[in-house]
Amino acid sequence: MKKILCVVGTRPEAIKMAPVIAALQNEAWAECRVLATAQHRHMLDQVLQLFAIEPDIDLDIMRPNQALTTLTARLLLDLDDVLQAEKPAAVLAQGDTTTVMTVALACFYHQIPFGHVEAGLRTGQLFNPFPEEANRIIAGHLARWHFAPTASAKSNLRREGIPEGHITVTGNTVIDALLQIAAQNPKLTVELPTDKRLVLVTAHRRENFGEPFRRVCTALRTLADRNADIHILYPVHPNPNVKDVAHAMLGGHARITLCEPLDYAPFVAAMQRAYLLLTDSGGVQEEAPALGKPVLVMRTETERPEAVTAGVVKLVGTDSECIVAETQRLLDDQTAYCAMARGVSPYGDGHAAERIVHVLRTWAAG
Ligand code: UD1
Ligand code: UDP
Repeated sequence: MKKILCVVGTRPEAIKMAPVIAALQNEAWAECRVLATAQHRHMLDQVLQLFAIEPDIDLDIMRPNQALTTLTARLLLDLDDVLQAEKPAAVLAQGDTTTVMTVALACFYHQIPFGHVEAGLRTGQLFNPFPEEANRIIAGHLARWHFAPTASAKSNLRREGIPEGHITVTGNTVIDALLQIAAQNPKLTVELPTDKRLVLVTAHRRENFGEPFRRVCTALRTLADRNADIHILYPVHPNPNVKDVAHAMLGGHARITLCEPLDYAPFVAAMQRAYLLLTDSGGVQEEAPALGKPVLVMRTETERPEAVTAGVVKLVGTDSECIVAETQRLLDDQTAYCAMARGVSPYGDGHAAERIVHVLRTWAAG
């Protein structure tokens, strides 16, 4: 038996690791242990509950409005203790959060092989997204296994000198999770007008805090003012830099519903019901195209160019007028809308976790 430690810290990591954890739990050679750093608390617990994942260890790291330096330092110290006690044969983590970067570093110090799920995403701009681009580069260069979601992610890794034999193109595990939940016919848990087109919004990126995020809110308000036939649903990220501004600028509008973060199943239902999505989220950029929903990304860069190239996701930046104009175009121009609502899924076929586990099974057998 090989002990494999799967680490999750935030909501998207849990969604994207859930299929991998489920697949590993079915492997006779593997003892799958789950470590929750709980960099997120409530939003992580929502996902763990949905996928029936009970962490073996919980570091309960989250503090209100946590700063990156203290978060990083506390994670490293706690992870050091865990690796010392657990002595796993390998460790897996997903993505680009502070949890993932510190897990990769702690594994390096303990010389434990680390598998990076969703490897190779890059914008090429160190401060955009911040701090995720740096987190990915650090985690990537310390990893033994790189599970790249797409061929272009693999190319990024090869350009940085990662050996061919260490990279496997697997698809993104988010599509595994999405298809699993979508098949369960999820229900939306928020009351919304049934006679209006739903515009679903999420936003939380650190590089957008302050003025860019205020411009996003101005755009949302303008769209709601101008279009009597739409309703905006915005589950607000609990980061106070987002939550306080969103409620101050958008609260009380008749055509805007602000709510707490939705559980994943109702959020999938909201994506299915949406006419279009406005977001700066990574995961939503991957999921919504698979559901045939146009996505306007309120960022100037994306590390997920495949759906942009396919024409089903468009970068609109954080300029209010640009966000309003591009959204209005999709609301008014049926041809432009249909061109983006094509159900393209460049990020996976729902079998990414199987491919990841296959690589680990081969390693375990050798
Ligand atoms: C983090 C990740 C980001 C990822 C995002 C997914 C880092 C630096 N950032 O951003 O890459 O895209 O998660 O959502 O790793 N909070 C709560 N309850 C929760 C979760 C967060 O109250 O369940 C609040 C807390 O005040 C917390 C703050 O949000 O201190 C920030 O959390 P943090 O994980 O540091 O950053 P995010 O902005 O959530
Ligand atoms: N999501 C959710 N509830 C919400 C908003 C988003 O379950 O209210 C899901 C979404 O479907 C996606 C993931 O959370 O799978 C994205 O997480 P987030 O936007 O927080 O992080 P990112 O993907 O940008 O790292």
